[in-house]
Amino acid sequence: MPERSLILTGFMGSGKSSVGKILAERLDCRFIDLDAEIVAVAGCSINDIFARDGEQAFRTLESSQLEQVLSAKGGHVVATGGGAVISGLNRTLMRKHGVVINLEVTFEQVMARLKGCSDRPLLAGDDAEKRAKALMSEREQFYADADIRIDTDGKSVEDVALEILCRLKGLFE
Ligand code: S3P
Repeated sequence: MPERSLILTGFMGSGKSSVGKILAERLDCRFIDLDAEIVAVAGCSINDIFARDGEQAFRTLESSQLEQVLSAKGGHVVATGGGAVISGLNRTLMRKHGVVINLEVTFEQVMARLKGCSDRPLLAGDDAEKRAKALMSEREQFYADADIRIDTDGKSVEDVALEILCRLKGLFE
């Protein structure tokens, strides 16, 4: 396990949490889900934070939790929320404290995986597809700011985790 944390980025539905749990198991280290940390600190769901206080309040919480998680002693696997990369400060922090691993996912896969999910406030309502497409294209430049990018198309979460482990070996050899 590298001393620095492994930080997973990617759009909603890219598999960050599932892959992160497998990676942490394989590396025998702690898995931290940033969204779960935010929910714990706020004492309510992400839907409720967005509804009650708005997206900006959520982003402020997200940045402060990210900073807290990353400034603690490293060596964890951290799954970020899909929008954590939009802040330049967050991206700088991630690159400074960890190895940033981006999970690339296609629009079709996102739509298939998130069908019926009601816990993504940014994709709630009738024009979810249009918004997902716009967000994916706006964020592509930020997802590209990573040490490793993994194409997840057609791969199981186990395969993606294995590929990351192989790529990490290459990075640290
Ligand atoms: C968001 C992604 C979500 C969550 C919040 C906002 C985003 O996390 O942080 O709903 O802006 O893309 P997941 O990527 O884990 O779904």
